[in-house]
Amino acid sequence: MGSLLFSPMTLRGLTIPNRAVVPPLCQYSATEGMANDWHMVQLGRFAVGGFGLVFSEVVSVLREGRITHGDLGLWSDDHIAPLKRIADFIRTQGAVPAIQLGHAGRKGAMQRPWEGNGPLGPDQVARGETTWDIVSAVAKPIGDGFLTPAALDAAGMARIVDAFATGAKRARAAGFEAVEVHCAHGYLLHQFLSPISNTRNDSFGGDLAGRMRFPLQVIEAVRAAWPEDRPVFVRISSVDGVDGGWTMEDSLAFAHAMKTLGVDVVDCSSGGIGGSATGSKRVPRGYGFQLPYAAEIRRETGLAAMAVGLIIGPHQAEAALAAGEADLIAIGREAMNNPNWALMARGVLEPGTTEDVFACWPPQHGWWMEKRAAVIEALGAPPG
Ligand SMILES: Cc1cc2nc3c(=O)[nH]c(=O)nc-3n(C[C@H](O)[C@H](O)[C@H](O)COP(=O)(O)O)c2cc1C
Repeated sequence: MGSLLFSPMTLRGLTIPNRAVVPPLCQYSATEGMANDWHMVQLGRFAVGGFGLVFSEVVSVLREGRITHGDLGLWSDDHIAPLKRIADFIRTQGAVPAIQLGHAGRKGAMQRPWEGNGPLGPDQVARGETTWDIVSAVAKPIGDGFLTPAALDAAGMARIVDAFATGAKRARAAGFEAVEVHCAHGYLLHQFLSPISNTRNDSFGGDLAGRMRFPLQVIEAVRAAWPEDRPVFVRISSVDGVDGGWTMEDSLAFAHAMKTLGVDVVDCSSGGIGGSATGSKRVPRGYGFQLPYAAEIRRETGLAAMAVGLIIGPHQAEAALAAGEADLIAIGREAMNNPNWALMARGVLEPGTTEDVFACWPPQHGWWMEKRAAVIEALGAPPG
């Protein structure tokens, strides 16, 4: 019998072959924003591994919108061709290539995570990775020792709205079929949404409507720049998880506003606003801990929802779909652990003959795997 995880989903004119999604996974491995062979292998193996929808990592719409020197970018036409090569490959495997567009705001000019996640330091500067001017809702750094951003004025915001729209057009030219606006994890658009990081007192701050204004302008511009028959996703931090921060109630209001703008899917993450450590009580971790956010968005707004966060097993994913908690299931670090996760999950959820199971694999692997499975079955359990 068919499973929910491996049932197709149609969003506007796009049909995704199954509900197993690879979410954006930044590799910090680009030079001047250009995709290279690492990105091809990183994303290509997930398409080979049976995922229906494969998201690129966050791609910065402006050079100064990068988190680190290693981020991907789409701030020039030159960035299109290497991304197109990857999108084209993903499509050859029957998967759908998707892209996340973002701007880091005050979380820009940082070290790569494995170098410390702090502001750029002497080691990076020595190899030519110097800092750049960063921007945010207000001139408040993310923490002590970090660069102070400039508060964006009207012209600065208009330039960014424009860059997102241009980025969306370039993404389409690169062959991506779905686009996601990154409004989560403490990056620029989240910095405008959250009362922790947006203390402006003009029409782009203050109450919820003011704080949502700029992100909604960006989303509206992306929707207008993106083909009518292709879906727009928005990733949110459903809650900040800090006292006085963004709440689920805010997320519902934001989702309702996004729905009127023609957003198709809300990708429900959480956290990342950072800033003051005072009163910070991070969102408690547990398996599938962000599923309730997706479920609430879906139930209260009627929008499709993507769930993400410590979803590990095929039955866990299937149960979430069966319970109506989400429409799409994103598998991040578990996909890095096993890029063939989706092929594996299909075999678990839709058991059949060995032949049936491996018929879903790319023939370059499946033909051999089926014969190997028969040998293993005849030999008995392999030695440890
Ligand atoms: C290496 C790595 C890079 C990430 N990069 C991004 C990113 O570019 N954009 C984003 O929205 N989330 C990013 N995330 C968050 C993931 O998309 C996902 O939400 C998170 O890993 C939780 O899902 P998981 O438990 O299945 O890994 C990243 C996570 C990891 C581990």
